[in-house]
Amino acid sequence: MDSIIVRGGSELRGQIPIAGAKNACLALMPATLLSEEPLTLTNAPRLSDIRTMTQLLESLGAEVSSMQGGKVIAMSTHDLASTRADYEIVRKMRASNLVLGPLLARAHEAEVSLPGGCAIGARPMDIHIEALTALGAEIELKDGYLHALARGGLRGGRVPLRFASVGATENVLMAATLARGGTVIENAAREPEIVDLARCLRAMGAQIEGEGTSTIEVQGVDRLGAATHRVVTDRIELGTYMLAPAFTGGEVECLGGKLELIGAFCEKLDAAGIDVTETEAGLKVRLRGDRPRAVDVTTEPFPGFPTDLQAQMMAMLCTAQGTSRLEEKIFENRFMHAPELVRMGARIDVQGGHATVTGVDKLKGARVMATDLRASVSLILAGLAAEGETMVSRVYHLDRGYEHVEEKLGAVGAKIERVTE
Ligand code: UD1
Repeated sequence: MDSIIVRGGSELRGQIPIAGAKNACLALMPATLLSEEPLTLTNAPRLSDIRTMTQLLESLGAEVSSMQGGKVIAMSTHDLASTRADYEIVRKMRASNLVLGPLLARAHEAEVSLPGGCAIGARPMDIHIEALTALGAEIELKDGYLHALARGGLRGGRVPLRFASVGATENVLMAATLARGGTVIENAAREPEIVDLARCLRAMGAQIEGEGTSTIEVQGVDRLGAATHRVVTDRIELGTYMLAPAFTGGEVECLGGKLELIGAFCEKLDAAGIDVTETEAGLKVRLRGDRPRAVDVTTEPFPGFPTDLQAQMMAMLCTAQGTSRLEEKIFENRFMHAPELVRMGARIDVQGGHATVTGVDKLKGARVMATDLRASVSLILAGLAAEGETMVSRVYHLDRGYEHVEEKLGAVGAKIERVTE
């Protein structure tokens, strides 16, 4: 199993290219199931989660080939071979549940195992089920699988979401493109990845309006055609690397970064004493003074502060001047990085969904363990600021969401290497 070793104390300087968004790509890929014609994605990230989705789509009958070292994914699903998403694949990644809507729309039936993925809370599927039921699907849970059936096909309707779930919005959006009649998704998620999915579906011939707002309207069509779509920039990878100079000093330019993807996060960086400047190529970041300042952070659905950047922000606040309060409102169990950061000398007190972080002068290198995707990268960032050596084990979590982390950070001056134990 691989580990990553970081030796802290080097200033970072240079450019970091930001990949296409994992979370967008994982929603875009299942869209191939909606059409007999080819769907090609460019600017795809090279990650193990993308390989898992490839495996899943192939098991359903899609032909998937990757080109340019994985940056281009060409898919085509002329015929469906199966409508069952097996536990063996789904357990590796929750986003596997995004085949449910497309399968129901195209084949009028689907069997999808209940998902796995990061251990960051219960993460049920009830909102997905309610949303697809509103389009006429009958769904029951048997033997750990959701069995879904749409007799005579899905029909459009009003779909009010109890919570603006990203995955449920994506599933119902894809399903509605081929439903009979019109659908209105109310309290839809507004994340940039939803906007990206809607754009791709529209390029395939879907009729969609209102993406990026809380009300998305879809007029069902008989069939979708071929399209080529460029995956939007990964705002979470972007935010992660934007934090790096706050740990080390120096200046980093994140290529492909855009403020509109990450506004709430940038406001917090400014309050913490970190300058962000828009350049032609992306976003340039540097710390004002020697130490960041404490800030309070509450995670919220987009356009609020993203939960997927909470662990990285907490790591940064561990060395800030003053006391910060973090509130996690999206996932109930998402402070598992806190005890690992404490092993590095951080002062963090977690009470339920709240964490209080009192900044210390210096973190100290230690052996720590990655517990989920974003937690693992927060430990690497902390290692950049720590005295001595930090060894992060179980980095398979990291490889699900960050391509070539050691190369990207190494290229701007970090002392970081991957070792295989
Ligand atoms: C997506 C992202 C994930 C991110 C999250 C929130 C992908 C592949 N993953 O996950 O990285 O952290 O959005 O921004 O895009 N919930 C229910 N019932 C449901 C569905 C969700 O209770 O049927 C709850 C979840 O348990 C969680 C909250 O709603 O507490 C948010 O979930 P959701 O927005 O659906 O996130 P995902 O789509 O799973």
